[in-house]
Amino acid sequence: MQVSVIVLAAGQGTRMNSDLPKVLHPLAGAPLLHHALTAARALGPARLVVVTGHGAEAVAAAARAFDDSIETVLQDPQRGTGHAVAQAAPLLADAPGEAIVLYADTPFIGEATLRAMIEARQRHAVVVLGFHAADPGRYGRLLTRGDDLLAIREWKDANEAERAITLCNSGVICAEATTLLALVGALADDNAAGEYYLTDIVEIARARGLGAGVVLCDAAETLGINTRQQLAAAEAAFQTRARALALETGVTLTAPDTVFFALDTHVGRDAVIGPNVIFGPGVTVESGAEIRGFCHLEGCHISRGATVGPFARLRPGAELAEDVHIGNFVEIKNAILDQGVKVGHLSYIGDAWVGEHSNIGAGTVTCNYDGVTKHRTTIGKRAFIGSDTMLVAPVTVGDDAMTASGSTITEDVPAEALAIGRARQVNRPGLATRMLEKFKAARAEKAKRQ
Ligand code: UD1
Ligand code: CA
Repeated sequence: MQVSVIVLAAGQGTRMNSDLPKVLHPLAGAPLLHHALTAARALGPARLVVVTGHGAEAVAAAARAFDDSIETVLQDPQRGTGHAVAQAAPLLADAPGEAIVLYADTPFIGEATLRAMIEARQRHAVVVLGFHAADPGRYGRLLTRGDDLLAIREWKDANEAERAITLCNSGVICAEATTLLALVGALADDNAAGEYYLTDIVEIARARGLGAGVVLCDAAETLGINTRQQLAAAEAAFQTRARALALETGVTLTAPDTVFFALDTHVGRDAVIGPNVIFGPGVTVESGAEIRGFCHLEGCHISRGATVGPFARLRPGAELAEDVHIGNFVEIKNAILDQGVKVGHLSYIGDAWVGEHSNIGAGTVTCNYDGVTKHRTTIGKRAFIGSDTMLVAPVTVGDDAMTASGSTITEDVPAEALAIGRARQVNRPGLATRMLEKFKAARAEKAKRQ
């Protein structure tokens, strides 16, 4: 069965009270749009089209960042959800099979629900995803008779009796692509908002002798984001689910309520995550790795047997091979640390490659930035970097080499060499005592004069 998905992402989102387009507001470390795209992509769609409008360029860029095979089409001006779908018509004119409309502001629709809708298409020409709302608010209401969906009434256009209905429209609609496009082509804007409502295709379909039906899902799946309050509620809901899923899949969370996941976080079985760990986008933690408390991770890969933290920060491009140990107050950015590397304390390793089993002493800094350009540091295998070494990049330390504590390394260190880059120490017998006496005498003299 071939499926095309149209994701509506053109709306302004006035109630967010924001300069940022609503669908780019972050939820679990990803733009809201990416959540809907995740559900869409799970269907393996033949065509995936995002309708952009408000903030079109930024929204299109976010869509391409998710998957560069996504097509975008501009809706300008934005004249309603039906008008938005109509903009995709030229792209989908010859698309065979089913079409599903998703809203980019509705992040939690699951793959199973979408598949149930495709299945229900065998019984109805138009299938709408509905839910029973505890607080139906401004959702469109589903007017039904038995199994049939008669109409969708927008809140603005609904009378008292219709507003009392708690069966609501999620916004997701499925129909044969050619049918959907024919129906949206027949929409009118004679309603309270003066918009082309996608929801009106139900009545148009019925007038043409086509049936419409409802597939129900849990209200948690259909939460639509219109306000920052709802965005915050969605974040909480996402985290609750992500924590439960992590526990179910064999991840230990010592304090689940304090761990925050991103949409694309992958944590392997038997990994252990301590309290107050924050996952930004793009993190993979392999089986059996341990992340201790208060770590902040983004764009990094942590292999089996590695231990990180407490209080460590891994930034994009941090690649930790098996059995790497990262200790407290260590920051790693765009750096590959090969098997068994140890960076135990208070260090910054950026734009670097560190060979297997090297040990990086406390307070080591890769001085990677000269104010204009970033430079690379390369450290060989089994190297020993003494505490408080400044590695002024570009610089290379060879295999089995050492640097002396407190060194500033500005030249390459050959394999097996010891580099000492610091002033030589001189001991002056008795000078400490003599100096102190001199200072005390000067202070007494000064006091006498006052
Ligand atoms: C819509 C539904 C309502 C449903 C609710 C579920 C209509 C007319 N109403 O109302 O029945 O209960 O969603 O959340 O469909 N968009 C465009 N172009 C436009 C207008 C909107 O792309 O011209 C996009 C928005 O970016 C958003 C989605 O469509 O992703 C929904 O738009 P929104 O204005 O939030 O619709 P609601 O009023 O919530
Ligand atoms: Ca909405």
